[in-house]
Amino acid sequence: MSGAACLDGRAHARAPASVDPKLVEHGAYVAILGDCVACHTAQDDRPYAGGLPIASPLGTIYSTNITPDPDTGIGTYSYDDFERAVRRGIRKDGKTLYPAMPYPDFSRISDGDMHALYAFFMSGLKPAHAPNKAAGISWPLSMRWPLAWWRWVFVPKVQPAVASTDGDALADRGAYLVEGPGHCGTCHTPRGMALQQKALSPRDGTAFLAGGQIDNYTANTLRGDDLSGLGSWNEEDIVRFLKSGRNRHAAVFGGMADVVFQSTQHMSDADLQAIAHFLKTIPATKAGPAFTYNPAAAQELFAGNVSRRGARTYIDNCAACHRTSGKGYDDTFPALANNPVVNAADPSSLLHLVLIGGTIPSTVSEPTHFAMPPFGDRLSDQEIADVVTFIRSNWGNQASAINTEDVAKFRRLIAPSPVKKTL
Ligand code: HEC
Ligand code: HEC
Ligand code: HEC
Repeated sequence: MSGAACLDGRAHARAPASVDPKLVEHGAYVAILGDCVACHTAQDDRPYAGGLPIASPLGTIYSTNITPDPDTGIGTYSYDDFERAVRRGIRKDGKTLYPAMPYPDFSRISDGDMHALYAFFMSGLKPAHAPNKAAGISWPLSMRWPLAWWRWVFVPKVQPAVASTDGDALADRGAYLVEGPGHCGTCHTPRGMALQQKALSPRDGTAFLAGGQIDNYTANTLRGDDLSGLGSWNEEDIVRFLKSGRNRHAAVFGGMADVVFQSTQHMSDADLQAIAHFLKTIPATKAGPAFTYNPAAAQELFAGNVSRRGARTYIDNCAACHRTSGKGYDDTFPALANNPVVNAADPSSLLHLVLIGGTIPSTVSEPTHFAMPPFGDRLSDQEIADVVTFIRSNWGNQASAINTEDVAKFRRLIAPSPVKKTL
C-alpha cells in the first residue's frame, strides 16, 4: 500500500503500481477546487456515489457515481474517458452529459490538474456500489442527441485559462480558479435562451459574473458595482468571506453556504488571495455613485420615532441583531447598510432569507454558528414588504420598493419542493 491514497484493495489493484501519492493528494485538492462532492454525493456516508436529484428546466436529473467501482461507477474509465467526460461533457458510451455537470467551465482545467484528478478518483477513493438512476425527463426531451448540439455550440475547446491581465500572475491564477475548476459562473453568470452561461470569462463581455439565480436565491453580481456588487469590498474582505463565511459586510447563506463549507474554506490562502485579486480586476457593469452612509434613519429610530413605514416592524423584529444603525456587528450579525444582498435589484435572496431564516455555517477558521430566525410565519406579506422596503431605502441603501404582491408571489414560489438543487 502506498500512502493514505490506497483506502481499498480493489482500487489499489486497478491503479498502476506507480501512482504517485503526491499526485493523488494534489488531485484531492483539485476535487475541492471543483467542489465535485457537492453534486456527486446524496448521502454523507457515501461520498461521490452520486444519486443527488438536481432540478433542471427539463425535469429532474441525477448525478452519477464517480467512485472507482467497475460495475456502477467509473472504475473502467481510462484517463481519456475521464478527461472527455469532465472537460467536454461526453460520456464513455459517447452520449452527451446534461450540462448540470459544469463541463463548459471545466473545459479550462489544465492537463496537469486533470491527470491529478484522475489519479485521485481512481486510486484515492473507495469504490461504492451504487447504480445510477435514470433521469425523470419525459420523451422526446430525454433523447440525449439534442444535447450534443448544445455541447457543440456552447462548450469552448479545452483551453487552459488564457492570461487575463498582462504580467499579473496572481490575477491569472485567480482567473483560472474562478473560470475553471471553481465554476463560479454556473451560479453567478446570467443564462441565455439555451441555458448556456452568457459569458465564460471577462473576455466574453460584461455578462460574466453579472449575477444569476439558483434555488430561488440571487447569486449576486461579483463585478465591481457599488452597492449591489463587490465595489466596496477589498481583497481581504473577499478572502475572509470565502474562508470563514462572514466578513464586515455580509454573511453567507443559501447555495453559497455549501460552496464555502465544502470548497472555498479548504482552498489555500494563496488561492483565495488569487481569486480575490482577480475578482477585483473585473469592472462594474454600471458606474454608479459610491455608497455614503446616511445617519437619518438611525437617529430617528434611536429617538423612538417609528413613523416611517416599516420602522416599527424593524425595531420589533430586526434591530436587536442588526442594530438601529443598520451596521450590525462585524463577523456576527451582518450589516444591512451597504450590503449587496439588500441592494440587489432582484430581491429573491433578501425575501428568501427573511421568510425562512438562515444559519452561518461553522467553518474551520470561524467555528461559531449564528442564526437568523425565520419570519415567514410571524409577519404578514404586508409587514415583510414594509420592513424589506425600509432596509432597502435607508442608511444610504438605494434599492427599489417591494410590494405585498411581490412577497405573496415569492411565498408561493418557495413552497416546499422535494428536489434539492436547481440548475
Ligand atoms: C453542479 C453539479 C456538479 C458538479 C459540481 C460536478 N458534477 Fe460531475 N456530473 C454532474 C451530473 C448531474 C452528472 C450526470 C449528467 C448526466 O447524466 O448527463 C455528472 C457526470 C459526471 C461524470 C460522468 C460520469 C458517467 O457516468 O459517465 C464525471 C466523470 C463527473 N461528473 C466528474 C466530476 C468531477 C471530477 C467533478 C469535479 C471536478 C464534478 N463532476 C463536478 C454534476 C456535477
Ligand atoms: C437573532 C438575530 C437576528 C434577527 C432578529 C434578525 N437577523 Fe437578519 N441576520 C442574522 C444573522 C445571523 C444573519 C446571517 C444569516 C446567514 O448567514 O445565514 C442575518 C442575515 C440577514 C440578511 C442578509 C445579510 C447577509 O449578508 O447575509 C438580511 C438582509 C437580514 N438578515 C435582514 C433581517 C431583517 C429584515 C430582520 C427582521 C425582520 C432580521 N434580519 C432579523 C441575525 C438576525
Ligand atoms: C451553487 C451556486 C454557487 C456557486 C457555484 C458559487 N456561488 Fe457565490 N453565491 C451564490 C449565492 C446563491 C449567493 C448569495 C448568498 C450569499 O450572499 O451568501 C452567493 C454569494 C457570493 C458572494 C457574496 C456576494 C455578496 O454580494 O454578498 C461571493 C463573494 C461569492 N458568492 C463568491 C463566489 C465565488 C468566488 C465562487 C466560485 C469559487 C462562487 N461564489 C460560486 C451561489 C454560488
